[in-house]
Amino acid sequence: MTIRLAILGTGGMANGHARRFNDIKGCKLVACCDIVPGRARAFAEQHKIPASYEDANTMFRKEKIDGVSVVTIDKAHAPAALAAIRNGVHVMCEKPLADTLANARRMAAEARRRKLLTCVNFSYRNSPATQKAAELVAAGKLGRILHVEGSYLQSWLVSHSWGDWHTKEAFLWRLSTRHGSAGTLGDIGVHLYDLASFVVGDFAELSSIQKTFDKGVRKIGPYVLDANDSVVTTVRFKNGAIGTLHTTRWATGHANTVAIRVYGDKGALDLNLDRPAPDTLRLCTGKDIDKNLWQPVKCPPTPDMYQRFVTSLQKRKQGQTSFEGGARVQSYLEYSARSAARQGAFLKLPA
Ligand SMILES: NC(=O)c1ccc[n+]([C@@H]2O[C@H](COP(=O)([O-])OP(=O)(O)OC[C@H]3O[C@@H](n4cnc5c(N)ncnc54)[C@H](O)[C@@H]3O)[C@@H](O)[C@H]2O)c1
Repeated sequence: MTIRLAILGTGGMANGHARRFNDIKGCKLVACCDIVPGRARAFAEQHKIPASYEDANTMFRKEKIDGVSVVTIDKAHAPAALAAIRNGVHVMCEKPLADTLANARRMAAEARRRKLLTCVNFSYRNSPATQKAAELVAAGKLGRILHVEGSYLQSWLVSHSWGDWHTKEAFLWRLSTRHGSAGTLGDIGVHLYDLASFVVGDFAELSSIQKTFDKGVRKIGPYVLDANDSVVTTVRFKNGAIGTLHTTRWATGHANTVAIRVYGDKGALDLNLDRPAPDTLRLCTGKDIDKNLWQPVKCPPTPDMYQRFVTSLQKRKQGQTSFEGGARVQSYLEYSARSAARQGAFLKLPA
């Protein structure tokens, strides 16, 4: 059976979704939709998608769609995904799952109630090294996990290697809470929180400080540039480990560096997604501990999130990421903001 898919929101990131779904066997992109007039039509032509729409409900009414990929701006994830769910359509949603924890929980509850399959595009799980790191920790290769240091570093507020943030729309909504942005935390911190909890385990408590630095410009059009640029979070994991997680857009020299080191009482792992294989994941265990030697780890290929979503629809089985998991990561985001508002107070996360 061919899985019939649609894309909702046809901006920058949607191109990656279209290219991947056009490559995956057993699925077909049948429609796309964007609220900006003409944008979905141009996208449909570019990616050879038969139908395009400017209204999601019309698309769901007119097309026979099994699954939709929601790639709108963050604030529109909840209404877009809930519209799909109401129409009985399985949903893959971009990260962060929603703009608020309440919306994320509503999305998870509605999908569960209608027995629909869900997926959150936590794309750093696409790396075989990430999957291997989680496997090694779960298998006890590092022993008891004690200490974690993780970071997601970007530099686009300083560097123009990705274009000028003053003029590009895709940067603007990331800079303004009025656009529904949770700043660097919602944009990339969400990946780091997912990565850390996927590899190490769920967070029990956290404390966070956040900063919105002076950029020389306070507003672009009606949008005040008030979203956070830099965040430092301290985590107590449920398994007893402690750690710090950093994320910023001011990290000169780092276009997009995602890394985590995990230290246990029998060894350590060092995952850096900037480093090419076989050095993406390195281990220091056994006899190497006394010599402080790190060995590269071979990581067999693993399916990416797009393939996992298609496979879950083909097998009618929930895949590795779900709206429940997305809502848990959303709780980390929301409690980080609450902690930051209370000068970094330690907060217990909801069960
Ligand atoms: N997983 C990743 O690594 C990754 C990377 C980049 C972006 N993202 C996420 O992808 C999403 C899109 O980011 P982008 O960079 O493509 O942004 P973008 O601004 O380039 O595109 C967003 C598109 O959504 C459309 N849109 C807004 N509201 C809509 C609605 N209600 N219905 C239909 N379309 C709507 C806009 O018109 C725009 O075309 C964001 O949630 C972002 O966080 C994820």
